[in-house]
Parts: sequence; structure tokens; C-alpha cells
Amino acid sequence: MRASEIRKLIQIKPAELDATRRRLSACHDIADLCATARRLTPRPVFDFVDGGADEELSVRANARAFRRWQFRPRTLVNVSAADTSAAFLGSVVPLPLALAPTGYTRMVHPAGEIAAARAAQRHGLPYTLSTTATTTIEAVAGAARPDLWFQLYILRDGGLTRELVDRAAAARYRVLVVTVDCFVTGHRTRDRRNGLVIPPALTAKTLAGIAAKPGYWARMLASPAIGFANFAGHDVVTIEGIGALFNPAITWDDIAELRACWPGPLVIKGPLGPDDARRAVAAGADGLQLSNHGGRQLDRTVPPANTIAAVREAVGPDVSLLVDSGIRHGSDIAVALALGADGCAIGRAYLYGLMAGGEAGVDKALDILAVQFKRTLQLLGVRSVAELRGAGRELLVKE
Ligand SMILES: Cc1cc2nc3c(=O)[nH]c(=O)nc-3n(C[C@H](O)[C@H](O)[C@H](O)COP(=O)(O)O)c2cc1C
Repeated sequence: MRASEIRKLIQIKPAELDATRRRLSACHDIADLCATARRLTPRPVFDFVDGGADEELSVRANARAFRRWQFRPRTLVNVSAADTSAAFLGSVVPLPLALAPTGYTRMVHPAGEIAAARAAQRHGLPYTLSTTATTTIEAVAGAARPDLWFQLYILRDGGLTRELVDRAAAARYRVLVVTVDCFVTGHRTRDRRNGLVIPPALTAKTLAGIAAKPGYWARMLASPAIGFANFAGHDVVTIEGIGALFNPAITWDDIAELRACWPGPLVIKGPLGPDDARRAVAAGADGLQLSNHGGRQLDRTVPPANTIAAVREAVGPDVSLLVDSGIRHGSDIAVALALGADGCAIGRAYLYGLMAGGEAGVDKALDILAVQFKRTLQLLGVRSVAELRGAGRELLVKE
């Protein structure tokens, strides 16, 4: 081989000097983002995101439920113009995906809720702000304008619940998502074992953690104190304090009341089967988010993925049906849609991104899922989400 030929073969890229960009460019799927997040984040914080309730049977079952479906693709279809856009809850999105609500997001990374909302906006996706957010309803709406959804926990104090709903409406959140699976908080075993304290405190264990993960702590110590931002002035400081506000006495009548005062689309997050799905629609819901809270509440619940087909049959074609819990790949989204969902939502997938690289990490997680979903559509031989929904079970074989 001549020297000129050898030179052509050598492709040395200039070194990436920005550490975050370098790390993110080495992440090729959500599992890579998760591994990077684990490396960079103190264990109690990583486990707060990654862990689930009790024995974590549901956490594992959720992911398995998507993966037990295999594809039977159509071949020799011209998929050069495959279109991944979808419609639910009265809006069109470039990808059938929403960012699910996650509490205490600034503990994961100080960029927190605003970073996630900005990344959602760049991708044209809805972002759901949690009741237990660490940034206020108004601050998120002032800093980013994706399609904003507000997630509500119904509280013992009806006046405070109503105040949250009114603030969300005043800040022009479009969709109200009422979570119905968390009126009593689940037993997060890893958090107990790790002695996780919310808000984080400088204990001997934390000080040891600072030495192990200096980047995380440097960011944390340079940022404003973390708290349950939407409860300022209500003396809610600890996670136990917030749990005590949840109302274990709620019933479907409370949903009907909320329906009467919320002008936009109403979603019930947490029904897991046709009976509760029908009740939610009867109480006035426009959409359902099938969810077991990512396996963080009642362990051993049926994986939401396994309930899609029966719920769709029960509620008919006009109710917007989203599913979350266990989505880690664009092909999981394709499975959900082929089974009858209109869209999916993610929690941990974007939080791993946030831990791995702040706002750029959330962008990376959304990029990964978008590319994976499009490639899956094309390799399945379908040209649009409508075609995927129409073909349905024809494309799926149970393992
Ligand atoms: C760290 C964390 C915090 C969460 N906080 C909330 C919350 O405040 N409100 C809520 O309705 N769901 C909450 N969830 C559940 C998510 O909205 C979503 O249902 C779940 O993460 C989906 O499962 P996945 O993580 O496997 O995608 C949280 C999930 C995680 C991982």
C-alpha cells in the first residue's frame, strides 16, 4: 500500500474537549445514558430515579412486557418518506411521545425541570410538570413553552388542590394530568437502604459521597436550595411532609369535580385495566395514561403494556390513550402503538439523560428515541403512525 492510500484510511477526529459532549457522544442508547448517569451521580440519587417499590418486580416486568413482542415486518414497501408524527389530546406531535412528570428533578441535576421542558420544546413534545416539582408552575412556564401539561396529586386540603389547578390554568398549562395511583406513597426499598434524605442533607455519608462524585456536588452546592417549589409558604419541606398531604380518601367524585373546573383536556394517569378506564371516561376524562408509576407504587401490578389492547377495546377509538412505565427504546413505542395506544410517556429515560449531561443529556435521550422509532417504522415497512396503528397485531408476534 502506498503512503497516500494509507493516509486516506486514517480518520483521526479532533479530540472533543467538552467533557459533557464527549460523554454524550459515547452514548448510543438509553442503556448507555443510564450507565453514564450511574457513574456520575451519588448512589442514593441514582437509586431514587432507577429504583422502584418493594422488590421491584414491576420495574422489571414493565420493560419485559414490551420486549416479549417480536416484529413480523412487511417488506419491500417504499418507506423513504416515513412520517413519525402523531396526534393525541388535540395536538399533533412529531413523535408519539410525552415527558412524564417526575418529582424532585433538581436533585437529579440542578438544571432540573426547566432543562427538561426546554428539551421537550426543541423536540416539539409535551412536558408534564409534577405537583412535587422543584421549580414553580410559573417559573417553568416563563422559561420554556413546550405543550405544557400539569400533573396533579389531589391533596387533603381541597383549597390547596384548587389553588394548584388555578395556578396551572393561569400559567396556560393546556392539559391537566391527575395521578390516581399515589394517594399513599410506595415503599421505595433502595431509598430506605441508602438512607436517602429529601431534601439532601450534609450527613457523614453525604460528605463521603462528595469525594466520590465531585462534579455532582460542585453543581449542587453552587445552585439555589432545593424544595417543593409549588408549596412555598406551606411549610412542606421533607418527602414525608409531602406524602402526608396526599389524600387517601379520593374517589371518582373528586375527578368529576376537577372536570367541572378545568377548561382543557383532562387525563387520568394510573388506571390499569378496562374497568377503571371506563370509570375515568365516565368521570369526564379526555385521555388516559396507563401507568404503574414506573413500578414505584404498588409492586406486582400488571405491566401497563399488557393492558393496552383491552383498554382500547373498552373505551373505543376516540379517547386518547397514552402508556408509560418501561419505555427504554423507540421500538417499545412502536409496540405500544401497534397494540392500540396513541402515544407513550417516559420518566427514567429522560432523567438518565439529565443525570448524564444536563439539558444536552435530555436532548440526547429524545434524539435517541426519535431515531430509533423512525428506523423501527421503516424496517417494519410502515410509512406512518396511522399505518402502524392500522396494521396493529399483524406486525406483532408474542414470544
Ligand atoms: C424519579 C421519579 C419521580 C417521579 N415523580 C412522579 C410524580 O411526581 N408524579 C407522577 O405522577 N409520577 C411520577 N413518576 C412516575 C412517572 O411519571 C412515570 O409514570 C414513570 O416514570 C414511567 O416509567 P419509566 O420511568 O419506566 O418511564 C416519577 C418517576 C420517577 C422515575
